[in-house]
Amino acid sequence: MSNQPLVGIVMGSDSDWPVMRACAETLKKFGIAYEAKVLSAHRTPDAALEYAATAQQRGMKILIGAAGGAAHLAGVLAAKTELPVLAVPMPSKHLQGLDSLLAMVQMPGGIPVATFAIGEAGATNAALFSAAMLALSDSTIASKLSDFRKQQTEKVLAKSLPDLP
Ligand code: RP5
Repeated sequence: MSNQPLVGIVMGSDSDWPVMRACAETLKKFGIAYEAKVLSAHRTPDAALEYAATAQQRGMKILIGAAGGAAHLAGVLAAKTELPVLAVPMPSKHLQGLDSLLAMVQMPGGIPVATFAIGEAGATNAALFSAAMLALSDSTIASKLSDFRKQQTEKVLAKSLPDLP
């Protein structure tokens, strides 16, 4: 795995890491170099904008923005880069992440972000979606993705349910 990060995982708080860890672990499984950072659309707006504005020239291919509540991070990143930006809504304390989901998914026309499921499923799928995009021009990632899908299918088909007593 080259050291050049291709995917930037940006989260609004270190409190998002327990969920976004699934994203980092999945990228690692596919041998995709990533960097993970805490940057907030509200608490560190200048640094978040600077990160997005320079991502492409630093060799990044995809940004993933994870935030909870008034979750503007992915949209703010997308405003400053033409790289694809994926958004993962974090489960929030009072509204269970529905607030994060709605804040992310309702982008105005012209600045897209691709929004995933709330929580760990979204974190994992943002990584798998990144792998699928990178696989278009990287045969090693493409073959890892095929293997992953085959193994997942086999695992599900091998499942059995308990007999009733
Ligand atoms: C958001 O606010 C973060 O992404 C996090 O999900 C949420 C709460 O942040 P903390 O108060 O835990 O730092 O910006």
